[in-house]
Amino acid sequence: MIRFNPLDHPVCLTLPRRVAPSAWTEHVPFAMWLVDVLRPRVLVELGSLYGVSYCAFCQAVAQLGTETRCFAVDSWQGDAHSGLYDTSVLDDLRRHHDPLYGAFSRLVRSDFDAAAAHFADDSVDLLHIDGYHTYEAVRHDFETWLPRMTRRGVILFHDTNVRERDFGVWRFWDEVKARHPHFEEAYGHGLGLLATGADVPEGLRALLDAPADELARAREFFFQLGRRVEVAQELAQAGEQLAALREEMEAMAGREGRRMRRQGYRVARVWADEGAGEVARRAWRRLRRTLAPSAPVREAALAVAVPPGPGRGA
Ligand SMILES: C[S@@+](CC[C@H](N)C(=O)[O-])C[C@H]1O[C@@H](n2cnc3c(N)ncnc32)[C@H](O)[C@@H]1O
Repeated sequence: MIRFNPLDHPVCLTLPRRVAPSAWTEHVPFAMWLVDVLRPRVLVELGSLYGVSYCAFCQAVAQLGTETRCFAVDSWQGDAHSGLYDTSVLDDLRRHHDPLYGAFSRLVRSDFDAAAAHFADDSVDLLHIDGYHTYEAVRHDFETWLPRMTRRGVILFHDTNVRERDFGVWRFWDEVKARHPHFEEAYGHGLGLLATGADVPEGLRALLDAPADELARAREFFFQLGRRVEVAQELAQAGEQLAALREEMEAMAGREGRRMRRQGYRVARVWADEGAGEVARRAWRRLRRTLAPSAPVREAALAVAVPPGPGRGA
């Protein structure tokens, strides 16, 4: 029997190219490892949003050359849990996805049920269910797509560890995991892996059959790799925010510099008017070449810089 050794699959050390908001980011290393272990012929994702999970699968497929055909199914309209959004989300994903993965992958804008009609029974090796997260919705997606799974089939469920609002994946997961070999990660909102087919791929069996202490080490390994991905993305975002801040400060410094030049112009003009000597006159002439004073500005400057009194001529 093969022993579980994630280092046999170094693809899981790769940082993802797709960087976007997602509750899935910490699972990217596990997703890449899974593609290497399963080498699926057909992969389907239900619920892709910005494509963080989907692009992790695709990146591994491209990097490993597994010749997998990939399909992301989403209405790209949102739902009550992820919020409603406009077409800019899909446009942004297309710009990233099409040039990198268009050769083997399609973004299918469709309702999950309508899309199911386009997949034959016994044709999907890896299915990721990450759509609407009520108990009823997850159960419906599972039951609709189960006949499409092959004998080597594996189904992933996201949000198995969310106990808020009307999220019910955890409840369905508790039921279904009692019937199939499985593996679960609690971090990153929870990810459940279910081997639904009779032929569990050997590399996966090494994980599913691992003794408890090895399983704990595997979870810790993927958790630490997932944290690394999150931290790398947080660092990149902080860098972008810093660059934007620097740009803003440079613009502010420019504005302030112009304001100070105008102020200097007024003071030099006052000095010249007050007969402060040749140096001031030269400064005034120099400034006048770059800034033309209007009479009201000049008057205002004089009023501010030299209050009426014995020092100021009429
Ligand atoms: C939680 S998000 C997916 C997150 C994504 N996997 C990631 O990596 O961040 C759920 C998505 O499922 C889509 N969705 C929910 N129910 C759907 C349905 N019945 N048909 C099509 N799309 C659906 C929503 O539009 C939303 O974009």
